[in-house]
Amino acid sequence: MSNSVKIKNKIKDFKKTIKVSGDKSISIRWVLFSSLANGVSKAKNLLISDDVLSAIRAIKKLGIRSSFENNQFTIYGKGIEGYKYKKNLEINAENSGTLGRLLLGLVINTHYPIKLIGDKSLSKRDFKRISDPLSKFGAKFKLKKNKNLPLTIKGSSNLTPIKYLESKGSAQCKSSVIFAAMRSNGTTYIKAKKSRNHTELMCRYLKLPVKVKKKENYDEIKIKKVQFIKPLNYNIPSDISSSSFFIVLTALLNRSELTIKNVNVNPTRTGIITILKRMGINIILKNLRIYKGEKISDIKVKSSKILKSINCPSKLNSGAIDEFLIIFLVAAKAKGVSYFKNLSELNQKESPRLKWGEYILNQMGIKTISTKDSIKIFGNPKLKLNKKIIIKNFLKDHRVFMTSIVAALTFGGEWEIHDKDSIKTSFPDFLKIVNQIKN
Ligand code: S3P
Repeated sequence: MSNSVKIKNKIKDFKKTIKVSGDKSISIRWVLFSSLANGVSKAKNLLISDDVLSAIRAIKKLGIRSSFENNQFTIYGKGIEGYKYKKNLEINAENSGTLGRLLLGLVINTHYPIKLIGDKSLSKRDFKRISDPLSKFGAKFKLKKNKNLPLTIKGSSNLTPIKYLESKGSAQCKSSVIFAAMRSNGTTYIKAKKSRNHTELMCRYLKLPVKVKKKENYDEIKIKKVQFIKPLNYNIPSDISSSSFFIVLTALLNRSELTIKNVNVNPTRTGIITILKRMGINIILKNLRIYKGEKISDIKVKSSKILKSINCPSKLNSGAIDEFLIIFLVAAKAKGVSYFKNLSELNQKESPRLKWGEYILNQMGIKTISTKDSIKIFGNPKLKLNKKIIIKNFLKDHRVFMTSIVAALTFGGEWEIHDKDSIKTSFPDFLKIVNQIKN
């Protein structure tokens, strides 16, 4: 079967209500926390995607069973000391940076070396950013080219707590160090640039000895050794990063309206909403509520006649880090020049996304000026495409695929978009929901 999608027609205006799949960050964290709990944890609406299934397979290799029945996932945790470390263990994080990095913190007490591998895209990504702090606890690492996968980690049962400055705004590094700190004797101190805080919120819900002090630009986190984790039943809310493709699809049309139900709107994740509102898009959050410390709401978005350009403040970057590709499409249609800066982290994702964002825009005939970590986008509110565009991302980045689909459905032209399978990592139902909106 073909792994590409051809689109020749724009989508017609619509008024719809949809539900998108479970949040990926929360799903992976639920799997990992449950694998350490004393007893049985259950999750509804867990994201069933390759990244999350890789997490399930990883804990299986560590001796933790799980089952899936009646849309409910169950994990049979054996306590914080419950992992079984065997000789010659190899764990495959496939495409998932979150799994690869968080898991290293969890297995930091392994007495046998564990080999961590990943797919082509993950093998190009930076793991030194996490082997460096974890080494300070007392773990030993060997990495390919001192930086990449495959790597081996050999841990210790006698870990010293550390002081760690997380300056990239990486929730993966911060969370991994929190997990390692939970296994070490004494108190670990983290000063972390703001980033998504699902790990900290789960720790708070589970009443673990993790204290967070929020400052203006960073958080101070104090973690003590954890003896016991209670089971964690969780109804996973929908993913704002997956929702963002449909928010922008609606925003780029003339007279459309969309409601997305039950979305996680944790303030560390809603950068896209702040940015799009500033660009003139009408978005409201309805039925706001709190669930296990996480904010949840329905998102209602309407297309607006005029889209404004933005000089995007860097402080919004971390809360929108997975959404810039799709935000760039709004800038392409906005009146004026938009400017996005300090985005070097974008090139650390599944593919170098700043480059790919620019590539898609240039294919569409949009003028851009970029540096290593910034881009100026010269918007064209009248843009109508009538040429053929082929998008083939050799690293099979799911967000490049989905962004291209939204561009094809809203700007016209004739598109051939490759690597459909990439959506299996984060959002297998993406095309099904596109069809639901179309019909
Ligand atoms: C994630 C953190 C972010 C994000 C990724 C998911 C997480 O990565 O891009 O998709 O769940 O912790 P970084 O921590 O590398 O910024």
